Amino acid sequence: MSAKSGHHHRWTRKHLLGLQELSADEIRFVLDTADSFKEVSTRSVKKVPALRGRVMVNLFFEDSTRTRTSFALAAQRLSADIIDFSQKTSSVNKGETLIDTARNIEAMGIDIIVVRHPAGGAAELLSRHVKCSVVNAGDGAHEHPTQGLLDLYTIRERFGKIAGLKVAIVGDIANSRVARSNLWGLKKLGAEVILVGPPTLLPRAFEQLGARVVYDFDEVVGEVDVINMLRVQFERIKTSQFPSVREFTRLFGLTGDRFKRCKKDVFVMHPGPMNRGIEISSEIADGAQSGILTQVTNGLAVRMAGLYLVSQASD
Ligand code: NCD
Repeated sequence: MSAKSGHHHRWTRKHLLGLQELSADEIRFVLDTADSFKEVSTRSVKKVPALRGRVMVNLFFEDSTRTRTSFALAAQRLSADIIDFSQKTSSVNKGETLIDTARNIEAMGIDIIVVRHPAGGAAELLSRHVKCSVVNAGDGAHEHPTQGLLDLYTIRERFGKIAGLKVAIVGDIANSRVARSNLWGLKKLGAEVILVGPPTLLPRAFEQLGARVVYDFDEVVGEVDVINMLRVQFERIKTSQFPSVREFTRLFGLTGDRFKRCKKDVFVMHPGPMNRGIEISSEIADGAQSGILTQVTNGLAVRMAGLYLVSQASD
């Protein structure tokens, strides 16, 4: 493994909390490490001993299918032991705090906590109260670093570069940790980021983070290289922010009609789960220019890299 030998010194972080705090070099280092782990996934024996004897816990306080599964599989491929801790079966329901819960889990000898929580800042808070590594799997609308990294990885794989690309992130920006992590990562690696959505779901303040803010999808649809469609997060949206589903699809959906006006080689992404027929048409989601399942595949290699690097840093 090249990640083990040469460039060890380029990663010193015990936690993976967000892309805002990572340098461009650190981000590239995770992506390069993921490259070597992707190769592992093509072998018939898809396991390496990198985390043998380590224990990872999935500590999810929000629903998740693919992210939790992806972390579990990533840890298995690194030969770690895995514990799953979901809200319904835990004593969180009895009023135990996040930190108490984590400390109790840690007392069982856990090395890495992968946490998803509805409150922004929860992962960072946790990292200050436990001795083990913390990996953020989504904290409120704040960050989802492994999603951001797997999106960067997938774009780099497709285009061979990230700098100079124009990337539109479209839809429910206000509620999206995916949008925020993507914005940080893409800007650091030199892409132009255009955020597209209705004013109620896209605060102008995003301009201060270096994004171009656009309220008319059709204004930019023909000029972008990548379109990352976000899920409309109905569970987080207040009704005043969102007039009607049909109106949203007409103005901000990636419809067949709009797709015809895109660049010929436009690359279509979505973090999942999709609302088919609302933010994206099924034909496009399943079509030749969709990278959606590639994102899922790459997520595994990226999470292997993240788990591996944080555990090396805590040695
Ligand atoms: C995203 C999330 O949970 O932030 N999904 C995911 O990680 N698979 C995006 C979303 O829920 O829309």
